[in-house]
Order: sequence, then structure tokens, then C-alpha cells
Amino acid sequence: MGKIIIKTDKEIDILREGGERLAKIVKILKDEIVDGYRTEKLDDRVEELAKEFDARPSFYGYRGYPAKVCLSLNNEVVHCPPGDRVIKDGDLVSLDFGLKYKGLYTDHAISFGVGKISGEAKKLIEVTKECLYKGIDQIRSGNHIGDIGQAIQRHAESFGFSLVRDLTGHGVGRQVHEPPQIFNFGRAGIGAVMKEGMVIAIEPMVNVGTWKIKQGKNGWSITTEDGELSAHFEHTIAVVENGYEILTEV
Ligand code: MF3
Ligand code: CO
Repeated sequence: MGKIIIKTDKEIDILREGGERLAKIVKILKDEIVDGYRTEKLDDRVEELAKEFDARPSFYGYRGYPAKVCLSLNNEVVHCPPGDRVIKDGDLVSLDFGLKYKGLYTDHAISFGVGKISGEAKKLIEVTKECLYKGIDQIRSGNHIGDIGQAIQRHAESFGFSLVRDLTGHGVGRQVHEPPQIFNFGRAGIGAVMKEGMVIAIEPMVNVGTWKIKQGKNGWSITTEDGELSAHFEHTIAVVENGYEILTEV
């Protein structure tokens, strides 16, 4: 898949600034997405917010992606253009957004419930978020990429949930997607060795039922094969001297 790009300290400084802006924007959007929210407003809203933060949305046009943000509901996993749907009470919302700031890319996703959600949805959101942090905990120079996948998979499966296999996390920074792929399952001790200056996006997609997914007619929207719920969390993280630094946090 090509060579892993090691970032300079200066690049990591910019990614930290960009990541903080991205996290702030995602937080603002989360608070705005309530019962009755018309998702057709989202593209204009993210454009406006990115501008306020001196940045640009990075997904639009990436491999032909037709929107500026991904908004996936309930049984939708990832990569759903917002379209003309209306959010309603009880929805499990997954929001995935990327920013280009001073020429460099960060990537961040969260899942949350709108209004009163089911106990199952609540548990899925909680466990998926924990999975992301279990993966992040494995980041340090000298560890293998496979250590991340094993930690994530163990945690989700201990609750009877499953990990989407066909989509992965990735290196990030100079491009939206860079090597290496960060699998959300697998075995410790395999894969590339982490090194100071690497920047990666870890993004577990956890399903209540089968790990299998299908692609929608628009060529983008990914849904669970069995129609059950799915959740998604993502952070951009740098490998630093004594471990890691999460760049997409406020
Ligand atoms: N965070 C998503 C991913 O890494 C963003 C995809 S970009 C898109 O897969 F353009 F495909 F949406
Ligand atoms: Co990503």
C-alpha cells in the first residue's frame, strides 16, 4: 500500500491546530442535530463552520464523494451523504467529518443518540467509543498495528457485538487516506511497527448483529446487511515520544 509518511514536528503542530478546530466543529454540529433537524442543511452548515475556523471540508470530491460530511443513521454504517432526511427522536446518529487546515488533513467521527434511544443503541454507542480508546491505548513506538485491531475486536466481541471488516482506519495528514490501513480486528504482533511521527486515524465501526455490510445504490452509503444498528467513532492520533497524542480532541 506504499510507504508510511512520517510527519515533522511542524506538521504535527499544524495537525494539532486543525484537529482542535475539527473537534470543535463536530461538537457544535452534535448540539445542533436534534429531533426535526433537516439534514439537507448540513452541507452548508459545515461549509460555514469550516470557514469560521479558517479551514476547508475535506471529503467533498474525494474519490467522487458527493457531500461535505457523512451522516449515517441507525442501520447505516458510514459514508452516507446527508441528503433530504429528517432526524427524529430515537435516531442513532453517526457523524463523520474531515478538515483540511493549512494544507493538512484530520479526520474525526462520533456517534450519539437523539432524544430517547433504546438501551441497545446506548450500549452500542458506549462500547464503540470504548473500542476506539482501547485501540488508542495500544499506540506507542515499537508496537504493531495489529495490537490495535486485537484490542478493539476483543472489547466489542466481549459484548456480543461485531466489527465491520471491509473498512478500516488509515494513515492521515498529507492526504485524506494514507498507508497503513488500521484494521479493527486481527492479531497482536502483526503488521507495521509504529514509529514516532506517524499519524493515524483509528475508526472502529461496530455492529449489533452481523459484521457484514452492503453498499447502497448511490455507490456510497454503507448499511448493515441485517438491518441492525451500527456505531462509529474516530480520532486522528500522532505517535509521539512517550506514547500518543490525540489530535482531534478539545
Ligand atoms: N472518515 C471516513 C473514512 O476515513 C471519511 C471518508 S471520506 C469520504 O473512511 F469521502 F469517503 F467520505
Ligand atoms: Co477516516
